[in-house]
Amino acid sequence: MKEQLEQLLAAAVAQLKEQGTLPAELSPRIQLDRPRDKSHGDFATNLALMLAKPAGMNPRALAEALLAALPENTLVAETTIAGPGFINFVISQDQLVQQLEHAYQDAKVGVAGAEQAQRIVIDYSSPNLAKEMHVGHLRSAIIGDAVARVCEFLGHTVIRQNHVGDWGTQFGMLLAHMEELEGSELAMELSNLETFYKAAKKRFDESPEFANRARELVVSLQSGDEKCLNLWQQFIDVSLSHCQEVYDRLGVKLTRADVMAESAYNDDLAQVVEDLRSQGLLVEDQGAQCVFLDEFKNKEGEALPVIVQKSGGGYLYATTDLAAVRYRQNVLKGDHLMYFVDQRQGLHFQQIFTLAKKAGFAREDLQMDHYGFGTVMGKDGRPYKSRDGGVTKLADLLDQAESRALALVQEKNTELSAEEHANIAKVVGISSVKYADLSKNRTSDYIFDWDTMLSFEGNTAPYLLYAYTRVMSVFAKANVKPDALSGTFVLNDEREIALANALVRFNEVVHTVANKAMPHFLCGYLFELAGAFSSFYEACPILQAEDENVQQSRLKLAALTAKTLHQGMELLGIETLDKM
Ligand code: ARG
Repeated sequence: MKEQLEQLLAAAVAQLKEQGTLPAELSPRIQLDRPRDKSHGDFATNLALMLAKPAGMNPRALAEALLAALPENTLVAETTIAGPGFINFVISQDQLVQQLEHAYQDAKVGVAGAEQAQRIVIDYSSPNLAKEMHVGHLRSAIIGDAVARVCEFLGHTVIRQNHVGDWGTQFGMLLAHMEELEGSELAMELSNLETFYKAAKKRFDESPEFANRARELVVSLQSGDEKCLNLWQQFIDVSLSHCQEVYDRLGVKLTRADVMAESAYNDDLAQVVEDLRSQGLLVEDQGAQCVFLDEFKNKEGEALPVIVQKSGGGYLYATTDLAAVRYRQNVLKGDHLMYFVDQRQGLHFQQIFTLAKKAGFAREDLQMDHYGFGTVMGKDGRPYKSRDGGVTKLADLLDQAESRALALVQEKNTELSAEEHANIAKVVGISSVKYADLSKNRTSDYIFDWDTMLSFEGNTAPYLLYAYTRVMSVFAKANVKPDALSGTFVLNDEREIALANALVRFNEVVHTVANKAMPHFLCGYLFELAGAFSSFYEACPILQAEDENVQQSRLKLAALTAKTLHQGMELLGIETLDKM
């Protein structure tokens, strides 16, 4: 609807240009807002205010001219000019009903596919494998997965890349510790990578012989020593299976096939450095190979280096990322590369993107975006820690979420069986953790707080899950299937109209999430939709409706609400429940 209206306004602008009312070289960006106050209509634009100056006209007069030039259409029922020259539009009910009907029938709930389908490479999760996944790994996995789902839904081809860190000096220490342990003991120790890492670190700090052995092992690993590689592979396999367990529990769609580890680029790194050299981009600085980019300067105004090879010959994080850009463009044939990585790596990615273009590793039109996110904080305002002060393992955090949710659902509904309770608790616990993350603007830090995320009030997973069961209970009571209703939408009550307006916004919201890579817009929308349903449900009897047509229409509104909530939650990676 918004797009249609935009097109109408664009046509009006074109017509005024032709008439000479507006200067021909103008190409304004048409901004349409949804006013909070419904007395201002369904949409409002400041277009006349924006164009008044270049047109040399009074804004209200220009608003009138724009409206006179608006092509004939069935979309707009009413227009008004407000204040200094805002134009307000009321959308016709016929249009609203048509859109509802379309969304009700449509497999994609009225969401239009992207104008141009792209191949989008999405780098997300990407933990370092030396340790087990901890709370800091939550955001990339959850937000990246939601955006991947949304892009796929819009018809893009999504290629997931789990750029795990499986290479580097810490592995020497881990391998040395593996050597010391044997068979069953080793297997047991590896079942908890957190303690394994700590034990290895302790040995490293305590024993100079151990530390030496660790350093030797790094060298043999990097020179491709077979025994060493086998040991390393064993460790990586265990670590990846820990990750997979977490993904499966979280409903994150990553699999082993999406893993493209740092080590997979080892053979390309020398070439990356060679190519930078032949382009004349390399400078040697204290024995290290660097590229200085004028775009990035320190406080003193000096260009910052991107180091691609250490003085000892070793390669770095940046070198691997340059190789990965090439791979993603040339082999995976990506049109757009997305990176969901902590905000603190912002400079790194800006440097990589700039350098990749400068060196010709990336096509001029390759789109590359780093979507950063803030830190998960504790209630004390510091990065979230477990009670003993250490980092919280994700697996433990999810256990805790499920057990807290279990207590909650047992209290809330005592009629269900133990098995039902356990199943509901799983969904409520996991989705609460995910939703708490998704519902915040990704660029800010957020406070991890069990009480708010598990609350049945406010913009939370339990609230939404519960709202969904309420809608579904209508169909259970009526004993009808939500997808097999006849009759047409009839909108009389203002709450029916408000709900209808909320329902048809879904399309717009899903596109916003994809364009900004920001799932919180979808969360906010679903919360509003559930609220609109709740007001409707309280004011407009469904099964007791006074007449058959009204009853059918209200059932259809409920059915479309259920369908939209379900689809919306699925895009967020949140499972729904039919009862709870
Ligand atoms: N493993 C890195 C870390 O934990 C994140 C990798 C992100 N992806 C990338 N292509 N650099 O900090």
